[in-house]
Amino acid sequence: MRTLPDRLHRTFFRTMSLLPARGQGRFLQRYFDWFHRRPDPWRHSVDPYEAAKYDTTLRSVGGGDFRRILDVGCSEGTFTLLAADAYPGADVVGVDVSQRAVARAAARAGGRAAFAAADFLNQDPGGRFDLVFCAETLYYVGREERLRLASERLRSFLAPRGTLVVTHPWPEARRLHRFLDGDPMLSKIGEHVDAGHGRPFAVSSYRLAGAGV
Ligand SMILES: C[S@@+](CC[C@H](N)C(=O)[O-])C[C@H]1O[C@@H](n2cnc3c(N)ncnc32)[C@H](O)[C@@H]1O
Repeated sequence: MRTLPDRLHRTFFRTMSLLPARGQGRFLQRYFDWFHRRPDPWRHSVDPYEAAKYDTTLRSVGGGDFRRILDVGCSEGTFTLLAADAYPGADVVGVDVSQRAVARAAARAGGRAAFAAADFLNQDPGGRFDLVFCAETLYYVGREERLRLASERLRSFLAPRGTLVVTHPWPEARRLHRFLDGDPMLSKIGEHVDAGHGRPFAVSSYRLAGAGV
């Protein structure tokens, strides 16, 4: 069940998504630079709930020979760096619309991952990836058409046998993931709903249709 602040939050971002796509991108950049005016605004690096969510997300992937990994909407890179440690043989890239966030992420990365400022709705993160993560980001894209675009963009970042893993609050994830669920070019290969940490979330995984499981 979404709370009143959640509803106001979603309404605010849905309203801003009435802007043309590039205008929305400029708004998101300014908003999230402001939001990151202080380090780690969501307390990703210290909150046990976030740590459990990151652990569940990584466990949902398991082992694999991933050469290139992308984290879309990485903020200051807390999860991105966990992914880099989990897959030390991979080149790991985090992108976020906030320049301030990715500057902090790069400063703490110590070379384990690369970070770039990019609006994933309008900008290419740099080729195709074997493993793409996107967590707690799709509720900012707003109205239906933008959510459809965001889902298509995420799919377009996949290498031919790549895996896409998206993590969002449950049951809202049913709405946020529905264009991925309904995309004939994707096969859903797993969904884990975790209700054990107070705030339920879903981790959903996809591959390009026909790529095999
Ligand atoms: C709540 S944080 C989630 C961070 C991280 N994925 C995690 O779960 O720890 C959402 C992030 O998405 C970023 N973001 C929102 N819209 C974006 C867009 N269009 N392109 C790239 N990043 C975006 C924000 O700047 C913010 O840092």
